[in-house]
Amino acid sequence: MTVYRSLFDHVLTRTDPERAHHGAFRAIRAARPALRLRRTPGAPVDALGLRFPNVLGLAAGFDKNAVGIDALAALGFGHVEVGTVTGEPQPGNPRPRLFRLPEDRAILNRMGFNNDGAEAVAARLDARARGLDRLDHRQRPVLGVNIGKSKVVPDDDQAAVEADYEKSARLLAPYADYLVVNVSSPNTPGLRNLQAVEKLQPLLEHVRRTADAVTEARVPLLVKIAPDLADEDVLGVADLAGVIGLDGIIATNTTISRAGLRTPAARVEEIGAGGLSGPPLTQRSLAVLRLLRDRVGPDLTLIGVGGITSVQGARERLAAGATLLQAYSAFVYEGPLWPRRIIQGVTR
Ligand code: FNR
Repeated sequence: MTVYRSLFDHVLTRTDPERAHHGAFRAIRAARPALRLRRTPGAPVDALGLRFPNVLGLAAGFDKNAVGIDALAALGFGHVEVGTVTGEPQPGNPRPRLFRLPEDRAILNRMGFNNDGAEAVAARLDARARGLDRLDHRQRPVLGVNIGKSKVVPDDDQAAVEADYEKSARLLAPYADYLVVNVSSPNTPGLRNLQAVEKLQPLLEHVRRTADAVTEARVPLLVKIAPDLADEDVLGVADLAGVIGLDGIIATNTTISRAGLRTPAARVEEIGAGGLSGPPLTQRSLAVLRLLRDRVGPDLTLIGVGGITSVQGARERLAAGATLLQAYSAFVYEGPLWPRRIIQGVTR
């Protein structure tokens, strides 16, 4: 048992998960100077016209406000996806809204896109960009920016939805190595309806045009999808990617399914609504990735995320067709040494 694991099991599981997250994140940022000279582990991956330092990235939702990109990269992550950022700043759902299911090594969240909003995050990314020259080139992570819908915007008003994503894209695309349109969080009412191809196509085309208007070099655009889509809808998104020249698909977000949990049903019921992540998600995320890879052919970038916890799981995802990998829940359960272990394991 690692030190972190026993600390986690005895201390962190007794504190409120959201406070534990902020405490752990503060510690990661504080530790960064000590990690400055550590080399980025793993082998580079060329994708999206970018060189990723290695195959593993930190999934969206951990650094929602872009306050710790380089500290997280110092733990080994080759890319960090910040966000979800919305056009308007918003507080998210009432607490408690983040829960651990230790029996399943899973997390359940209904955060609801709590974030500082596109303007504040853009200002932060601008300040970081000015300081980047001082950072050794080899240590720079690839920066993904994940954008989503502000809660105040009704999902059935397509023009308003497009204007809201446009605001985020306009402000954030200039700082992003790649941009992600998130239409798959279960915690913003109606958001996942935007995955229907007839809504998704105009939305993605609008974000594409917006990004092109504010950047000189073309920013790769990806969409992040839910594991709860029916297979035919997954294939619909795959086909859409070809039609509109999307650069990639991230599969998957959290699930609303509660199937196969070890956590007692009464406890699951008591926690209530939200998206489930970690091992309960592994099989469906893997299946969605396979469906996508089969449909899109070998070239499109696919980022596999959902229930990756081990070197074996990471290898399995790569064998199923993932170009790159991301994780969130296993990092929380396994601790700050976990990313390096996985990266070194898949590189051998
Ligand atoms: C997330 N996830 C997420 N995804 C996203 O696109 N935008 C977001 O804001 C968030 N927020 C968020 C908060 C919390 C607390 C968790 C646990 C997850 C989903 C995340 O990026 C990832 O897709 C899933 O968690 C599945 O991966 P893991 O956790 O099983 O490795």
